[in-house]
Amino acid sequence: MSEHIRVLLTEEEVDDRIQAIGEQVSRDYAGKQVHLVCVLKGGSFFMCELAKRITVPVSLDFMAVSSYGATTKSSGVVKIVKDLDETIKGKDVLVVEDIVDSGRTLSYLLEMLKSREPASLRLCTLLDKPDRRVVPVDVDYTGFQIPDEFVVGYGLDYAQRYRNLPYIGVVEFDD
Ligand code: IMP
Ligand code: MG
Repeated sequence: MSEHIRVLLTEEEVDDRIQAIGEQVSRDYAGKQVHLVCVLKGGSFFMCELAKRITVPVSLDFMAVSSYGATTKSSGVVKIVKDLDETIKGKDVLVVEDIVDSGRTLSYLLEMLKSREPASLRLCTLLDKPDRRVVPVDVDYTGFQIPDEFVVGYGLDYAQRYRNLPYIGVVEFDD
């Protein structure tokens, strides 16, 4: 079976929105240092672009969790594959994610991070699929709300491919 990609959000639309979020984050964290926690691998493209547009002091760290295999369906299993290098205790932490789908990954992750006593903990996601939510998650910054379709690009993959697309597209299968 082959597939093709239909553009959902252009590179310009995504860049403009990230610029706006960067400005909002800079205002909200005025006088503070924001500690960005990137959820690998999907959040990495978004985090780099966002970090470049934040004007308050920034530090960053990475963690990796797995909830999906090579399919497009959630297994419901969340596993920490790589933990943070540094402590977040007392820091103003902003978790940067590619997408909130069922909410399972983020609700688990946020509870876990909260127990490490950061000064504050917020969530920023490039994409949100509210129709798919199974577990409630408080999102502080959202790039775009999108319909229930499987998307790729800007860090998001389908079977590890398409992360490098500079736009967001929907995977469509040809028969
Ligand atoms: P959740 O736990 O169901 O909210 O989703 C967790 C992870 O599933 C996200 O961080 C993504 O890595 C992946 N995911 C969910 N929806 C999509 C999609 O449409 N395209 C690619 N990855 C997705
Ligand atoms: Mg992710």
